[in-house]
Amino acid sequence: MPQAQFELRRKLLQLEALYDVGRALNTLRPEGELLEELMHRAVAVLDAMTGLVFSLDEKLNVQQLFTFGFEVPAQSSGVLGDPAIKQVLASREPISLAGARFLGGAPSDLLVAPMIAGESVVGILAVGGKEERGAKRGSFVEDDLRFLSSLAAIGAAAIDNSRHYHRLNVIRESLEDENRNLKQRMLREYSDRLMIGDSPKMQKVIDLVARVADSQANVLIRGESGTGKEMVARLIHGNSPRKEGPFVAINCAALPETLLESELFGIERGVATGVEARPGKFELARGGTVFLDEVGDIPLTLQAKLLRVLQEREVEKLGGRRRIPIDVRILSATHRSLEEMIERSEFRQDLYYRLKVVEIVLPPLRERKEDIPKLVRYFLDKYGKREGLRDVRITQDALQNLMRYSFPGNVRELENVVEGALALTTDPIIDSGDLLMPDRATVTAGEEISADLPSLDELERRYVARVLAFTKGNISKAAKILGIDRKTLYRMRSVLSQSGTTEEKWDIH
Ligand SMILES: Nc1ncnc2c1ncn2[C@@H]1O[C@H](COP(=O)(O)OP(=O)(O)OP(=O)(O)O)[C@@H](O)[C@H]1O
Ligand SMILES: [Mg+2]
Repeated sequence: MPQAQFELRRKLLQLEALYDVGRALNTLRPEGELLEELMHRAVAVLDAMTGLVFSLDEKLNVQQLFTFGFEVPAQSSGVLGDPAIKQVLASREPISLAGARFLGGAPSDLLVAPMIAGESVVGILAVGGKEERGAKRGSFVEDDLRFLSSLAAIGAAAIDNSRHYHRLNVIRESLEDENRNLKQRMLREYSDRLMIGDSPKMQKVIDLVARVADSQANVLIRGESGTGKEMVARLIHGNSPRKEGPFVAINCAALPETLLESELFGIERGVATGVEARPGKFELARGGTVFLDEVGDIPLTLQAKLLRVLQEREVEKLGGRRRIPIDVRILSATHRSLEEMIERSEFRQDLYYRLKVVEIVLPPLRERKEDIPKLVRYFLDKYGKREGLRDVRITQDALQNLMRYSFPGNVRELENVVEGALALTTDPIIDSGDLLMPDRATVTAGEEISADLPSLDELERRYVARVLAFTKGNISKAAKILGIDRKTLYRMRSVLSQSGTTEEKWDIH
């Protein structure tokens, strides 16, 4: 091949290699891989017999080192003592040496180029010993050094990039971590105003709520009546990515089967005469959360339909053929033991697992009595404000009474007791006399009970009479304390007056 043509071919090869390497190095890869690729390309294109590449950190410590054609030195930092490398590191210029002893090897030609990114040297790329080609004596030419320098420059940029990327990644991860922690702390602080509970058991619940809120996982919330299941559901929704969407709750225990079905899935027009089309809860909650309260009360046939909806993420309205895609997160709650129901074949196991991706169990109030004072304070403020009372206090004695009580109705019962006390009191100080708790009533009514062992109905009558006496005949207040509505109480009143249990005058408010 004529010399000119040979030169042209060589140049072309080098350009191609630069182009290839540039492209290859742009895909972010670990630093070690980048270095090896760089060295092998240099050795191949320059027909060298040996190669060396290493990277440096900011303090010029050797990071990673690779060799071709000779052993990796035992002490990688030893390369920094080599005169040729020392010179390049000092001058930041590439050099070409003839007959040099590279790292104590046999004398050979050497090309050494610095890898410079910005202000710093991030590594060194070197090749040695040009192979002999035919009659041509093996020695590097000026172009070879230029090529090696270009390759080193591209490599330096790639290493710099990958280091930046790595650094950004570390920063991003730590920011994400911080963000998550802040969110959890915020939720904890915020929830402190909504969801009271310093006891370790409640702190666990609050932590779990914070962690699960962010995800899309279905959550099953369990706990006795009045422990705050619905509250947790609202808290999860309110802190989830779906918080801008609707929160649609349905009490599965409150409706008969067919009504529940149409409430959940909707109804198509003309199912029966006069029936208007109605969207179901799943449709209404698009982009938000469906809260299936008392999920243990769903009849078995409906459980099968619900399971299908959850699996296929589509609903079919009653009397319709169209399938409507759903986009909801499912939270559910129950006070029942679903496991026992499964054993008795009253609840589908497959549905159970779908609903219970995460489970939150709310402890009963009697297992976290240390939360009572703060809850009392919270409800005193809440209902005090409503009653127009300022700076409401509770006596030590009254608080002691509350701490002694077992609260079968949990937080809801405590809330009712405080609310009732505030409705009754005329001054802003709640004392034991203002608290109406069933077992207090039982204690005072104890003698009567042991004397004549009344039936439950009779006991109810007596209790209602006692509450009415307490409220001085105020029906609204009595209804509130008893947790029933006024109409029901009116009905009872007639029973009461018939039985002559009370002689109270009835002022109707
Ligand atoms: N930790 C808490 N801090 C403040 N208020 C609470 C807490 N837990 C419950 N409550 C209040 O107690 C009442 C009952 O709570 P909620 O309705 O969430 O209970 P539930 O478990 O759904 O009850 P049920 O089983 O009867 O449906 C609500 O008024 C709620 O605001
Ligand atoms: Mg509830």
